[in-house]
Amino acid sequence: MQKLEQLYEGKAKKVFRTDDPELFIVDYKDDATAFNGVKKGTILGKGAINNRVTNFLMQMLEKKGIPTHYVKEISDRETIVKKVQIIPLEVIVRNIAAGSLSKRLGLKEGTKLKSTVLEFCYKDDALGDPMVNDYHIQALGIATPAEIKLISDYSLRVNDILTEYLKDVNIELIDFKLEFGKLSDGTIVLADEISPDTCRFWDSKTGEKLDKDRFRRDMGGVEDAYKEILKRLLGE
Ligand code: TMP
Repeated sequence: MQKLEQLYEGKAKKVFRTDDPELFIVDYKDDATAFNGVKKGTILGKGAINNRVTNFLMQMLEKKGIPTHYVKEISDRETIVKKVQIIPLEVIVRNIAAGSLSKRLGLKEGTKLKSTVLEFCYKDDALGDPMVNDYHIQALGIATPAEIKLISDYSLRVNDILTEYLKDVNIELIDFKLEFGKLSDGTIVLADEISPDTCRFWDSKTGEKLDKDRFRRDMGGVEDAYKEILKRLLGE
């Protein structure tokens, strides 16, 4: 497997072409941004931790029947993934009110929701990733009703699997964001990452935040929080 030219550089990862037309290599960075790129910084060691954590969780989900883009981890920051075309949606699943939901609906952070909330945002930095519903997604030609149903079903199953798994290591899964992509044959698979950048993880005993909110909110202890997640999940 040969790493060829860079195809794309995002806020937290770079994507490279390989000599296999159906495979890409993702390379995780230590760069951190928040508020649509307005706040910028570095979280030392984040790239390696997010690579390991994402791959660990993707393999676990794959075993439980969720198709993913994961192929093989090749270094502490690099992973071979299946080539996908990302569906431009951020799928957000919420169990407990926090962040933008708390702000928008006036719910105190930590309020248990009576049922799981699923939200879609249209991935467009220039527009600030606006929230959209099924009608918008269909009207914009982003996904068909059948595809929206499949993405929703997968996301809720991911929530059940992760919530259950994290409980055992004393982490409460507050909310998280997923992205899906299409393989060349049109199959929809889970893509992007699942990490402290894209999930809210709270210690179930102390309520301590173990995720990117520590960076977003200048709380300190950012690196240690990421390390703690790696330790609880992979025992390292
Ligand atoms: P929010 O409360 O700010 O809408 O965030 C909900 C979840 O989505 C939270 O776990 C963080 C994650 N998230 C991302 O992964 N990327 C983003 O750009 C945003 C805004 C949130």
